[in-house]
Amino acid sequence: MADTNNGGKVRVGVIGCGGISGSHLPNLDRFEDVELVAFCDVVVERAQKKADQYGGVVYDDAAKMLAGTQCDAAYIMIPTYAHGTPERTCIAAGVPFLVEKPMGLHPDDLRKLAAEVTASGLITAAGFMNRYRTSVNRVRELLAGDPAILMDGAWIGGPPLDRDGDYFAKNPIGQWWPVKEKSGGQFVEQVIHTVDLARYLGGEVAEVFAYAANGFNKKLPNLVTNYTNDDAMVVSLRFESGAVANIMAACSAGVSGGVFLNVWAAHHTARFTDWGHHLKLYREGEQGSEDIKGDLGISSPDSIFTLEDRAFIDAVKSGDTSGLKSCHADGVRTTLVCLAANESLETGAPVKVQY
Ligand SMILES: NC(=O)c1ccc[n+]([C@@H]2O[C@H](COP(=O)([O-])OP(=O)(O)OC[C@H]3O[C@@H](n4cnc5c(N)ncnc54)[C@H](O)[C@@H]3O)[C@@H](O)[C@H]2O)c1
Repeated sequence: MADTNNGGKVRVGVIGCGGISGSHLPNLDRFEDVELVAFCDVVVERAQKKADQYGGVVYDDAAKMLAGTQCDAAYIMIPTYAHGTPERTCIAAGVPFLVEKPMGLHPDDLRKLAAEVTASGLITAAGFMNRYRTSVNRVRELLAGDPAILMDGAWIGGPPLDRDGDYFAKNPIGQWWPVKEKSGGQFVEQVIHTVDLARYLGGEVAEVFAYAANGFNKKLPNLVTNYTNDDAMVVSLRFESGAVANIMAACSAGVSGGVFLNVWAAHHTARFTDWGHHLKLYREGEQGSEDIKGDLGISSPDSIFTLEDRAFIDAVKSGDTSGLKSCHADGVRTTLVCLAANESLETGAPVKVQY
């Protein structure tokens, strides 16, 4: 439980002050029982910018931050390749943390890290905010009595292009997102949200098989020069329940991409569309569909990031983790499924997921 010597406020230290911090920090700033006390980033100017906005002390290193400023909780929001040291720093300091997905890049390191985090007994949250959606939880509830048999999902986007003033050219993420050796590739870095929902709705994944399309983006004259991601992937999952799923990724579709996930069970069909995961739910024997509009806000007071942040802060304050939808160890399991897809690409064979 958080130390209440700070007037009941949870003192939060931030590790990584890039793009996604913009979806969490406004919430934490708005919460009356939270104080943003410190910011750290290996590019210290990014930490300074956040401190200028929210107050707090600035560091260039997580260990220095947790040694120099009393933090009751930390937010870890760093690139895929950078995981390990920040989490271990939190363990050493006994500081609970919320960590953005994916949880890491190398299966062996990740299994070891997950064991260390679990042994520490720290409260943790993995940044799979879609698990807080009303639409998703409505379907999960129904599937408990009518299990998923087949799912298909996709996250289809365009290529990272270096046009004048383009996002990837100007933002930090452009330095690592297009580089598979750093991000894990689009399937690991982005489509992991859909894989996580497939696990949340369908249970544990036993085996993974993947194909990739490559060489198409390389023909584009303005592709970012550091690009090594796969252009597209199809990944088949076999669940322990016996269910199957097909999840697709593309960062090569120039026009009309999108996000979707369809779930078929014996008595229900659920169709989620777009980033908001708007739901059309069809039930056996009923006309039409039950529709639930997904929330679209990134940092509005009722956004799913807000729900996720609230759940984490409440858990840190009370010691009760029942409101958390995913912890570090669970996030590692989803990450290992995605990394198994990369292994399948390398071996050309199905991969049994080792947790
Ligand atoms: N939940 C979501 O929908 C969502 C959306 C976007 C990004 N993310 C995830 O958040 C993470 C960060 O993404 P981003 O878009 O903010 O990237 P980013 O590149 O914009 O920011 C990452 C920041 O971390 C800093 N950093 C790197 N190593 C560090 C270290 N060891 N200690 C402290 N700082 C370090 C970088 O300098 C950079 O400023 C990624 O894992 C990404 O997948 C999640």
